[in-house]
Amino acid sequence: MVKPCLQVELAGVKLENPLMNASGILGLTSYSLARLAEAGLGALVTKSVGLKPRPGSPNPTVVEVPGGLVNSMGLPNPGLEAFKSEVEEALSKIGKPLFVSVFGFSPGEYGEAVRKLSRLPVAGFELNVSCPHVGGVGEIGGSPEALREAVKGARASTGKPLFVKLSPNLTSFAEAARVAEEAGADGIVATNTVRSMVIDLEAERPLLAGVYGGLSGAALKPVAIRCVYEAYETVKIPVVGCGGIFTWRDAVEYFMAGASAVQVGTAIAYRGLEVFRDILSGLSAYLEAKGLDDLSRLVGVAHKR
Ligand SMILES: Cc1cc2nc3c(=O)[nH]c(=O)nc-3n(C[C@H](O)[C@H](O)[C@H](O)COP(=O)(O)O)c2cc1C
Repeated sequence: MVKPCLQVELAGVKLENPLMNASGILGLTSYSLARLAEAGLGALVTKSVGLKPRPGSPNPTVVEVPGGLVNSMGLPNPGLEAFKSEVEEALSKIGKPLFVSVFGFSPGEYGEAVRKLSRLPVAGFELNVSCPHVGGVGEIGGSPEALREAVKGARASTGKPLFVKLSPNLTSFAEAARVAEEAGADGIVATNTVRSMVIDLEAERPLLAGVYGGLSGAALKPVAIRCVYEAYETVKIPVVGCGGIFTWRDAVEYFMAGASAVQVGTAIAYRGLEVFRDILSGLSAYLEAKGLDDLSRLVGVAHKR
């Protein structure tokens, strides 16, 4: 049998394979974006950037827990204007579709951020409306009105694909996905991290300087898979899975739940950039063993009852 086809098309963007990095794990500089591109990804996402520079939260910002990491990085970034030149330099090196992730503190900031970046030859944008530990950002994805306004504003600023990254902390993930689709989103990313906290026994206070954090890694996977499954049943736009993917088996679970592509974050910290080639070769071998010629045949199969 010929090698199974791993190419995917996401809202008109062609990816040579379905693997992406999750926003915020590398992707803040042209150097780290170039390193990611060499690791064999199908498309890349930048760290989330906002209108103004932010130093992020004081240390400690990351703590390891059983099953994952809890981080409260606080969205450190150089601000859009300074970031533009990093993106331009990255685009001259990477030769892969690049999505820029943006965040805002009000719905209007999303449209403004996308408008300011709209001349860059990027593939599209990811709207981070779901950071669980920076006050004001997660609240946008948590309110149907604010979410609608943010997505509509971004939609009015660009004709390029817009992916909306939602939170697993919502009462109804499916409803938020529906609102995003209605407001003009071209895809859903499921999911950001779970709002969480770790207590320092010695200090008798929250361990992270930012108090609240976001849980990523293996412990997030069943939650995020459920979000992908619900979104797949609710919207027609593609769903990109994200949360706790370490191996090809994890990725296959996401495809079966309805993801068209997947993003990998925390696993990069544990397994290095080789994790992407490992997942790709495992995926290819799995499809071949199952006699499937194309990855698309796996997408959503868990919904057949
Ligand atoms: C250190 C760290 C920084 C992150 N920064 C961002 C960010 O800037 N924007 C964003 O949308 N998500 C951010 N995330 C969330 C990840 O993109 C991803 O949604 C989450 O970690 C789940 O995937 P994983 O289990 O593969 O890490 C960050 C996660 C971590 C661990």
